[in-house]
Amino acid sequence: MQNLPAHVAIIMDGNGRWAKKQNMPRAYGHKKGVEVLKDTVKSFIKYEITSLTVYAFSTENWKRPPKEVKYLMKLFSQTIAREAAELDEQGIKINIIGRRAKLNQQILKKIEKIEKLTEDNDKLILNIAFNYGGRAEIIDVIKKIKADKNLKTEEITQKLISKYLYNPTISDIEFLIRTGGDKRISNFLLWESAYAELYFTDKYWPEFDEKELKIALKSFAKRQRKFGALIEEADQ
Ligand code: IPE
Ligand code: IPE
Ligand code: MG
Repeated sequence: MQNLPAHVAIIMDGNGRWAKKQNMPRAYGHKKGVEVLKDTVKSFIKYEITSLTVYAFSTENWKRPPKEVKYLMKLFSQTIAREAAELDEQGIKINIIGRRAKLNQQILKKIEKIEKLTEDNDKLILNIAFNYGGRAEIIDVIKKIKADKNLKTEEITQKLISKYLYNPTISDIEFLIRTGGDKRISNFLLWESAYAELYFTDKYWPEFDEKELKIALKSFAKRQRKFGALIEEADQ
């Protein structure tokens, strides 16, 4: 496929509704969601797309019932421990982005472990946004800038802000996919997706497969990106 994006972000939404549709508990949808992410990662490697950032838990998701929050914490913790070796074998580099402060010690240790294990890989960079909020990230950037007493006001540029994000090596989002039918950003990557092409599908995340990914990528391939400049449409 031609004109593929280099960096795709996915808001993996609709796990709960998908489970409900088949009279199963929401947890069943989240579990299936992990399997779908594993398959999606394989498709990305196949299409040679080098960066993927996924939304796994938002700073607002703490508002859910304690039982669901607990399940999502456990699922994340178990998954990054269980899948670490296989992800490493596939050449995937894992970065976890988000606020670390509220996460428990056990999860923090597993995060450090998987990031260290996979740090030299470059086949696919998989950023997992966990306890992530776009506004929280901007606040954390401002705090870091304010704490740097040597920094002069005129040194604050877009480049500098990018350097203070949770992971400064993460490039801008080119293509942002949201499953589950809602057409909103829900506090995901506010800075990084300034010029992202947006794509919404009614499919719930557990139903997303390679065929759906291909449809999305074809939509991206046809788009003309302008970045605010005057770019004439190519002759038909
Ligand atoms: C997305 O699915 C996963 C998380 C937010 C953790 P949801 O849990 O939001 O599923 P719906 O949107 O309620 O169907
Ligand atoms: C966004 O989905 C967060 C994740 C997919 C992790 P939500 O289900 O939390 O978003 P809203 O509440 O519908 O905006
Ligand atoms: Mg949702």
